[in-house]
Amino acid sequence: MPIVDNIRAIRWEDHQLCLLDQRLLPQQEIWLQLGDYREVAVAITQMVVRGAPAIGVTAAYAMALAVQEMQQFSDWQQRLAGAAAEIKAARPTAVNLAWATDRQLTLAQGESAADRAATLLLQAAHDLLEQDIADNQQMGRHGAALLPEQGGILTHCNTGSLATGGYGTALGVIRAGISAGKQLQVYADETRPWLQGARLTAWELQKDGIPFYLNADSAAAYLMQQGLIQAVIVGADRIAANGDTANKIGTYSLAVLAQYHQIPFYVAAPLSTVDFAMPAGEGIIIEERPDSEVRQCAGHDVAPAGVKVRNPAFDVTPAALITAIITEKGVARPDYLHSLANQRG
Ligand code: MRU
Repeated sequence: MPIVDNIRAIRWEDHQLCLLDQRLLPQQEIWLQLGDYREVAVAITQMVVRGAPAIGVTAAYAMALAVQEMQQFSDWQQRLAGAAAEIKAARPTAVNLAWATDRQLTLAQGESAADRAATLLLQAAHDLLEQDIADNQQMGRHGAALLPEQGGILTHCNTGSLATGGYGTALGVIRAGISAGKQLQVYADETRPWLQGARLTAWELQKDGIPFYLNADSAAAYLMQQGLIQAVIVGADRIAANGDTANKIGTYSLAVLAQYHQIPFYVAAPLSTVDFAMPAGEGIIIEERPDSEVRQCAGHDVAPAGVKVRNPAFDVTPAALITAIITEKGVARPDYLHSLANQRG
């Protein structure tokens, strides 16, 4: 089945960073034009752009904007380091944010002339965007081979073009499987509380012509029990060196369910999502997001006023529950400490 892959949510135009505002999808397709790195950091915090690889690429552009602003000052390198700290503070869990920001800072620090650093960082951001798409396509090729010839594939959150430079990680693998002729029925978790599945994955799959059902998160166990799910595939925000994986809240429950039902549970993420400095999952900082995301649904109150809320945005799936981790370099199997390190080379 021919697969369309047209969605791109990050672009550079007229010296500005243009982001498709994911807070407004699917009702409105509005692009924001940002020319100041501080606005970009706020856009990341407020989830105009979200998804680990996408915020990495966005951070790279934020650094390019920052160096353009700082180049008039003699202490531009010091000021740029301050901007990098602000950008990295936008969200704590996805390592791609810090990874891309630090990469840009290191590049700039290797350059003595500010104007040359500005040119360099902008080009590096463009390259990162292109590389991310290429890596996702490569991941798709590796991962598609793991999917059954036919059957149901459950996914969580949004891991597609919107969450990356383009093509997607877990959704990219599904995309590649369908392109290769596999008869896959996608089941997309709605992904409470922010509804990345209902709002973004559903929008993206519909636009790209991929058949799917949208289901409530709480339907996952039932769907598995009914024999409708042959594999679960998710993305990642940070993978510890031992394979423990932080991803959207609810991922851990899916991994436990998958093990109970003896269904393979796959993680697809670029190597830039692996934090080799983080030995195990318990060290990963889990972002807590505003109470209103849980107290409300689509902007309407659904809980009594004043209730106390817990809103962790991510959870950590122990490596022992993960069948394989798919990266652009190939398929890593347990034990991940060695298989992931081998991929890094
Ligand atoms: O809070 P979000 O929407 O940024 O969370 C996104 C996820 O958890 C994704 O699964 C993850 O970033 C992988 S995206 C390719």
